[in-house]
Formats: sequence, structure tokens, C-alpha cells
Amino acid sequence: MRCVVANWKMNLASREARAFCEDLLGHFTPQAGIEVGIAPSFTFLHLVSELVRPIGLQVFGQNGHAEAKGAFTGEVSMPQLRDAGCSGVLLGHSERRQFFGETDAALATKVKAAWQWDLLPLLCIGETLAQRDAGQTLEVLRQQLSILAETGPGPLWVAYEPVWAIGTGRRAEAAQVREAHAFIRGELNRHLAGTDYVVPILYGGSVTPESFPELLTIPEVAGGLVGGASLDPRKFAELVKQAG
Ligand code: PGA
Repeated sequence: MRCVVANWKMNLASREARAFCEDLLGHFTPQAGIEVGIAPSFTFLHLVSELVRPIGLQVFGQNGHAEAKGAFTGEVSMPQLRDAGCSGVLLGHSERRQFFGETDAALATKVKAAWQWDLLPLLCIGETLAQRDAGQTLEVLRQQLSILAETGPGPLWVAYEPVWAIGTGRRAEAAQVREAHAFIRGELNRHLAGTDYVVPILYGGSVTPESFPELLTIPEVAGGLVGGASLDPRKFAELVKQAG
């Protein structure tokens, strides 16, 4: 299975989101074996899901709170994401870890909450440049995946996103991606031993239609989590086509 997910981050207004979806629908043919998702801002989740779910696209929240309801001003819960039409939720994006202090311990509770509300967690992991330069990449990935020892097994997608490659135009080298994805697969095999869960591992970080075909040739790269290039419906449709 291949997966291509648009992470719109804090971009677009509802009018632009509608225009994007209408444009995408004009260029998009659903293909067997490819899962396509969009992660819009909370304010137009409903709108996007009404437009794209009928043709089989998935809609992801960009974050979700572990509690189902209560006094958590400014937060959105997993059942609220479901109610808005989501089938999944991004968890642990490096911008959440970096700017909002999201910890592995908090992420373990969020993954469990997502499962409880039947949402597919797309867990994002990846090292900073300082960690890579210090030779700590694999240790960081091991640590970030160790939340699975706490959550136990369940349906999951993982995105490897080296922090230094996000939004920088600086994509990781093929050898770096190969090493990281192989390592992640080994860790997932360990955590999910004896279960039937098949976890696709997406690459994220400056993915474009120019770089995606080569990335897709790397073993264990099952697709992409795409920021900047996903804001252009033609480019996004092209990435989906390349994944086919
Ligand atoms: P980028 O973002 O494609 O703009 O690098 C990817 C992401 O943050 O998920």
C-alpha cells in the first residue's frame, strides 16, 4: 500500500480549501492500493471532509487532545475530530514537539485516545540537525517509537520526517532515508511482533514532484507526508499519480 498525505499546517482559508478540493477532484482518479489524505486546519475539517470523503480520500486532524471532553480551552478532542469527518489524526509532528512542548509521554496517551475513537494515528518522528550531527539519529527514532511499548499494538501509520528537511527545500539523501526507514521497520517489527498490523512508513520533508519518484524507489518508503508542495492541487495530484 502507498500513502500520500497533505499536511496543510496553518495555511489556507475555507474558500481556498474549497477551491483546492474542487481543483483536485478534477485531476484525481482513485487508484487501488493508494491511500490519499488531507490534514487541514480544524476550522474547515467539515468542509474538506464533505468534499473529499465521497471519493475515498481520508481526512486527518493535525492534532488531537487525549481527553474526550472537558475544560481544555483551545483544544480539540478525538471524538470532535471524528464528528468533523476525520478518519485519522497526525500525532507528534515535529512542529508540535518543538513549538508546543509535545512529549513522548503525552503522545502515548494521544495514540491510545485516537484508537479509542477509531481514528488512525499518523505518528511523526524524526531527528533534529543537532541530533543527526551528534550521531544520535537512530537512538532518537528508537526513543520516539518506544511509546508503542506503552500503548501496545494497534493500527498506525508512521512518517519519518528529519526535522532539518521540513520546509527547508533540503531533502534527506537516499542513503539517509534508507537507513532510517530500515531501522524504523525493525523497531516496528519488534513492537508489533505477533500481530497482523501492517504499518506503512511515509517519508516527509521537502517532498516535491521532482524528488518523490526517487524516494519511492527506496525500500520501506511507502509514500509521503507533504507540506509545502501539498498546497498546490496540481502538484499534489501529481504526487498521488507518482505513487501509483
Ligand atoms: P514540507 O513539510 O513538505 O513543507 O517540508 C512536511 C511536513 O512538515 O509534514
